Amino acid sequence: MGSLHLIEHPLVQHKLTLMRKKEASTNSFRRLLNELAMLMAYEVTRDMPMQDVDIETPLEKTRGKVIDGKKLVFVSILRAGTGILDGMLSVVPGARVGHIGLYRDPKTLTAVEYYFKMPHDMQDRDVVVVDPMLATGNSAIAAVERLKELHPKSIKFVCLLTCPEGVAAFQSAHPDVPIYTAAVDRQLNDHGYILPGLGDAGDRIFGTK
Ligand code: URA
Repeated sequence: MGSLHLIEHPLVQHKLTLMRKKEASTNSFRRLLNELAMLMAYEVTRDMPMQDVDIETPLEKTRGKVIDGKKLVFVSILRAGTGILDGMLSVVPGARVGHIGLYRDPKTLTAVEYYFKMPHDMQDRDVVVVDPMLATGNSAIAAVERLKELHPKSIKFVCLLTCPEGVAAFQSAHPDVPIYTAAVDRQLNDHGYILPGLGDAGDRIFGTK
């Protein structure tokens, strides 16, 4: 069984509740997602490897610790993943970025790939895949399957919200990939939406509905 990291920090939970409200404007939804992504980046990078470097303060020479942001790749599942990407990049500006374009076939709810662009040397990199909603799990499972073909050093998956069905499907396909989320909601409905959820994350980020 893979690991599930529930991010219960009060700031995360508070912002998530504001985002769920149907009357939240596109502007505030996007701003809150951006802030949440920064807080989630803090959690997902908690165990990132560090290295010692020699530096000089105004007073003397010393050694400090730094993370190598260039080894980290944020992979956004288009299009809603983009909403998380900006916040994460403001915390780890040196990270590389990959994109996977997947759409959900409305009839079968399976994931169909239409775009895939990653940085070079993926075998040297730690990957954090981002998508606000882990619902059926189909897109996330397909995205991670494709990424595994490139043999990155590690893969983590970050979402804002998920549900028991999504967690079960993802963990059965990828038990080695930890999930980071702010909430596990009650259930999935017949159309593949999370309940109570927050609606269609892409539409709410981009104001397309
Ligand atoms: N995708 C969304 O945007 N919302 C859901 O509830 C499920 C999948």
